Order: sequence, then structure tokens, then C-alpha cells
Amino acid sequence: MSIHNFQTTDSDLDRAAELLRQGRLVAFPTETVYGLGCDASSEAALKRLYLVKGRPVDHPVIVHIAAVADLEKWAAPIPPAAYKLAEAFWPGPLTLILPRAAQVSRLVTGGQDSVGLRVPAHPLARKLIERFGGGLAAPSANRFGRLSPTTAQAVREGLGDDVDMVLDGGPCDVGIESTIVSLVGERPAILRPGMIDVKAIEAVLGLAVEAGSAATAKTKPDQGDAIRVPGALPSHYAPRTPMAVAQSADIIELFGEGLAIGRNQGVIAFEETVEAMKSSFGQGFLNAMEFETWIVAPDDAGEYARRIYDSLRRLDQLALHKILVEAVPTGTAWDGVRDRLTRASAPQL
Ligand code: TXA
Ligand code: MG
Repeated sequence: MSIHNFQTTDSDLDRAAELLRQGRLVAFPTETVYGLGCDASSEAALKRLYLVKGRPVDHPVIVHIAAVADLEKWAAPIPPAAYKLAEAFWPGPLTLILPRAAQVSRLVTGGQDSVGLRVPAHPLARKLIERFGGGLAAPSANRFGRLSPTTAQAVREGLGDDVDMVLDGGPCDVGIESTIVSLVGERPAILRPGMIDVKAIEAVLGLAVEAGSAATAKTKPDQGDAIRVPGALPSHYAPRTPMAVAQSADIIELFGEGLAIGRNQGVIAFEETVEAMKSSFGQGFLNAMEFETWIVAPDDAGEYARRIYDSLRRLDQLALHKILVEAVPTGTAWDGVRDRLTRASAPQL
């Protein structure tokens, strides 16, 4: 695998597009997280993608396209709501689930009648798709069930030589995966919350949208019992270290208990909680801080999302006994972050 630095050149892009045409795997930056891309029209490439990802083949992947105009190559019929949302949010962190066009591979759709489509905003992603000249199937560039990568380095650490090339576009701006809106049911529904929140979707569509995350959603009876949305598995996006999400008072209490028996704990908490811990635990807490096992969480949801996976990844590498995370606020702006924290703290399957 060749290593590329942040300054990805035109010839890197040419090489990446050529590798994709040969059915190889290229990881690339998007504004949300890094994707592990392959030619969405090549069955052989898709099979290798599933193998490297370690993902069951009945779990669909998102197809990344260059522009709204390409929708028709992948989806049919396209409801007016799709164009409204595409117009408002593309290029950007929104995935639309639409009825699939007849020629779309079952490996892309996980055997379903729908396909997930997105026009990413990251300039490198856009250039790559344009140069390649087709749709790129790309799940997040991590092994199945692990934390999504938001830097090229995290991709390399997670996938090693199984990826043929990694395009480095620097750290991702949004930091958590796209909002997924399904337009194949009776009513639009959010299958995975992201930084485009339910209110923004409703404002564009002019109607109420089901905001339920897929975490608890059951598939329709006619689709059988299989979990079709990998993000819906409770333990998705998980660090290896056990993690608990709790309100401020409980975090303080749990930390105190661990401290008393000399346990190394990671903490992600808001400023006020951190201050309260300093005054409750004094030197013990300050010592823990020195070992960089604590992170003061930003108050802004966008900033929090941008850093969440990197923070969890960093704490996960410290062989801690537990990671304690303070619950985030209740507003819809935090839906995406709250969803990822909930999944990351769910018991491993
Ligand atoms: O931001 C993102 O969406 C990132 C970047 C790389 O674009 N991609 C991403 O892909 O998160 P992945 O494969 O890790 O998650 C895609 C989600 C899965 O939960 C998958 O089940 C769902 O999209 N999905 C894809 N096609 C679908 C379909 N036809 N019906 C229902 N869910 C679908
Ligand atoms: Mg993923």
C-alpha cells in the first residue's frame, strides 16, 4: 500500500481512478467519515469490499455519485421529495434511500428493492468520482462494527494492506456518518440520524418525518427478520474498551468509585462536570488528567461530532478499564451524536 500525505496530487487521483477501474479498493475522504470505495457496478470488486470490511452480504452499501443528475442511473422511480432534499442538501451529509433501478447489483442493495445514494461534499471525493466516471460503493472505511475513521491514518491502522490506496484529505469536517432518509415507505423516515437533523429535513419537505433511529426499528414483515441496516445493530461503532454514557452526577459518582480502587478510566464530559470533578477528587483527578485520559467535550454539537470518533479512538488505545461519557443535551441537533454514543456503549454482540 502506498502512503499519501495530505497533499493529494492530480496524479494520485488518476491512479486512484485507475485502480477503481481495475476493481480495486480505494479509501477516500468524505466530509462525514472516510469511505472504502469500489466500483459499484463491479460484482468482483463488491465481493472483495464485503470481504475486507468483514460485513455480511445482506447489508447494503451507499453508492456515492457525482451529481443529482446521476440519480436516474441508480434509482427509479424518483419521488419529487428526493429532488427537494437533494437540491437542499447535496453535495452534503445526506443519504437518500430510493427504489433501485433494475440494473443495480444485489450486492449493493443487500438484496433489497431500494438503494442508498449520496453526493458527498469533500472536494477529493467529488474529484475522484468524476475521474472514475461511475458510482462508488463505499461503506465507512473500518472493519465491520468498529469505529468509523475520520483521518487517513485511522483508515491505515484499521485496514492495513487490505486497502489498495488511501487518499488523504485531512480530518473529516462533519465527523459522523450521513443522515439517512428513506423515501421508499409510506412516509419519509430517518433511518440514521446525522448532522442534518429531523427539523431541517421537515422544513424542506413541509411535512412531519419519522425521526426514529434505526437502532430499534424493526424491518418490514415482508423483508423477513434479518437486520438490514448494519448501523442498526446495537453494538455498531464500538470501541473495544467498555463504555458507559450517563448523566453528569452519575459520571462523577462512577469516576469516584473507580478512582477509589485505582482504576484507569477515560472521561468525556462537559466543562461543568469536569470542574465539579476537580473539586470533588482533587489530586486524584488531576493525576488522571495528566495521563490524558479525559476529554473536555465541546458545547457545540457540530464540534462534538467532528471530534467524537477521534476522541474515542484515542481513549480506546490507552487500555483503560472503562470510558465514561457524559450524556449529551436533548435537542435534535444532538440526535446524531447521541445515536453514535448509544451504539458505542451498547454491549458487544
Ligand atoms: O457518511 C456516510 O454515510 C459514510 C460515508 C463514507 O459516505 N458511509 C457510511 O456507510 O456510513 P456505511 O456502509 O458504514 O453505512 C451505510 C448505512 C448502513 O447502515 C446501510 O445499511 C444503510 O446505509 N443503507 C445503505 N443502503 C440502504 C438501503 N437500500 N436500505 C436501507 N439502508 C441502507
Ligand atoms: Mg459504517
